[in-house]
Amino acid sequence: MKDFVFDQREEREREALTMASLSLCSAHLSSTPSRSSLPTSSLSTPLSLLQSPITRRNSSIFFTATPRQIPQSFPTSTALVKCCVKEPLKVMISGAPASGKGTQCELIVQKFGLVHISTGDLLREEVSSGTEIGNKAKEFMNSGSLVPDEIVIAMVAGRLSREDAKKNGWLLDGFPRTFAQAQSLDKLNVKPDIFLLLDVPEEILIERCVGRRLDPVTGKIYHVKSYPPESDEVKARLVMRPDDTEEKVKARLQIYKQNSEAIISAYSDVMIKIDANRPKEMVFEETHTLLSQINLNRMIKTAMLIIKQVLADKASPVQDNWRGIPTRLNNIPHSRDIRSYFYEDVLQATVRSIKDGNTRLRVDINIPELNPEMDVYRIGTLMELVRTLALSFADDGKRVKVCVQGSMGEGALAGMPLQLAGTRKILEYMDWGDDETLGTFVKLGAIGGKEVDEEDDLFILVAPQNAVGNCIIDDLQAMTSAAGKRPVVLINPRLKDLPASSGIMQTMGREKRLEYALTFDNCYVFRLLYYAGTQYPIMGALRMSYPYRYELYKRVTEENGKEKYVLISTYSERPTPDQINDAFSGKSREESKKPSGIWGFLGSGFF
Ligand code: AP5
Repeated sequence: MKDFVFDQREEREREALTMASLSLCSAHLSSTPSRSSLPTSSLSTPLSLLQSPITRRNSSIFFTATPRQIPQSFPTSTALVKCCVKEPLKVMISGAPASGKGTQCELIVQKFGLVHISTGDLLREEVSSGTEIGNKAKEFMNSGSLVPDEIVIAMVAGRLSREDAKKNGWLLDGFPRTFAQAQSLDKLNVKPDIFLLLDVPEEILIERCVGRRLDPVTGKIYHVKSYPPESDEVKARLVMRPDDTEEKVKARLQIYKQNSEAIISAYSDVMIKIDANRPKEMVFEETHTLLSQINLNRMIKTAMLIIKQVLADKASPVQDNWRGIPTRLNNIPHSRDIRSYFYEDVLQATVRSIKDGNTRLRVDINIPELNPEMDVYRIGTLMELVRTLALSFADDGKRVKVCVQGSMGEGALAGMPLQLAGTRKILEYMDWGDDETLGTFVKLGAIGGKEVDEEDDLFILVAPQNAVGNCIIDDLQAMTSAAGKRPVVLINPRLKDLPASSGIMQTMGREKRLEYALTFDNCYVFRLLYYAGTQYPIMGALRMSYPYRYELYKRVTEENGKEKYVLISTYSERPTPDQINDAFSGKSREESKKPSGIWGFLGSGFF
């Protein structure tokens, strides 16, 4: 009967999820402008709208779904829900001795299929098998005191690293029990989605412990009064734990009280206190709801990503609908619309390139605010672009490392390129959405082989560049080889030679450096074109967005005085200055061989 109730509820949750997802999708469909792709905020806004202060409790893990109308034309709900890959749950359960942790764990495992890791059970197994660990632990356990941290930590770390725990999720019971244990988990980057704290008055706990009986065959937990065994056969084989005498329970309670504050404060952001002085079914009802909500949130999030992808694909091919280059690019600072436009344009190209399996990507975006050679250069724009990319991939479940090179060189030559000064701090202080994004899905780092961690899925390198006398290539090379097949995206890299007083950079391994720089494929290029030697007026623009062709635009003024960009030519490879000259002048290069005229300045460094 109970199961039936839960199944019905799950069905309702699934329905709510689907309705919510589809209604969000419907909202997008009706409100999406003609632009090919959704704005970056398209995912975060609806999700944040779903956050309800009532259900939000004390962490950011709860959302509620608001059913609305389902558009007829959209894929069926079942299809979408089936696509949702569930990320495994990570749960910690804590509470005083006999608060009911083991009892709740039995029920949670039954319902959610998590791997139950109980340090008490693991230790008891070691004791009964007479292992070295067991022999060491026995004395501590029998007296009701804690087993030394190093023994328990090694045991738990080993268990958590096993494949089943990674795949099915885990339920950590009775660990961490000291501050040192909590710290060890933190070092291993093990964080729970939720920390359940079972709360039971002390006087009840003693009675529960003394009356507890265990079935050595099934592992089931009974109580002589509240949960007696189902049959005489089971009753006959029940055993009592050696640490369940009144005296030992009191000692265990004392130890629990000494440590609980430190543990609770370590997980206060995901902690939920549950009144566990109720029948176990009622306690589980609450536990079940909490865990289901986390699953539901994840499913909504995944469904949103799928919808986002479906909509983006639907709007593709981007090239056909693309409304052209935004105007008023000479107005500084750029408007939010213009900035968002380019962030999205870069994002779409990067996503497509990574989707096609490219792992060494290069983005060159040179709107005035992102061109360090112009005095209107604005580092905030670069940071916003990086955040857009990082958050979008993080929303997709990827762990993104955003890397800014540290200072290079030694002594008088130490320092970092001016363009990057303060970048790291700005990134740290930026708004990264909910509390857990920065540090979990998005991490900050420097450039170098040692910065690559196993859990990183993707690396975004912010304007890596050579500085006078110092070359970033070695660090870059070390990083890409450590990254292996994981994507590395360079945003506005400047890898060409810079003159050094000692001439070091020009003479050492130049060919090799340039060869390495070429291993990155352009996935996005945008450059404004000007008269030779000027930065005004804008004559046109060059754009390439993976996997499409390079597009050359001419800026024209319409009769009404408004400007617009007209596509005049496309190229499979990046066009040379000569090709650009030809296209603008409307004549073949054969007729005018010299790279002079308005495009003369494009001849060297820029291409
Ligand atoms: P461990 O086995 O983890 O013991 P504990 O934390 O003291 O918890 P218990 O197992 O006694 O209680 P429980 O909360 O699981 O309650 P249960 O569901 O069984 O650890 C044992 C020892 O190992 C420690 O003392 C220590 O020496 C060592 N150890 C373990 N982890 C360690 C670590 N991390 N570091 C160092 N040393 C470590 O329920 C209890 C009784 O109440 C049962 O009879 C049950 O039927 C009944 N009951 C349950 N729920 C209810 C309810 N809602 N209403 C009424 N009765 C209920």
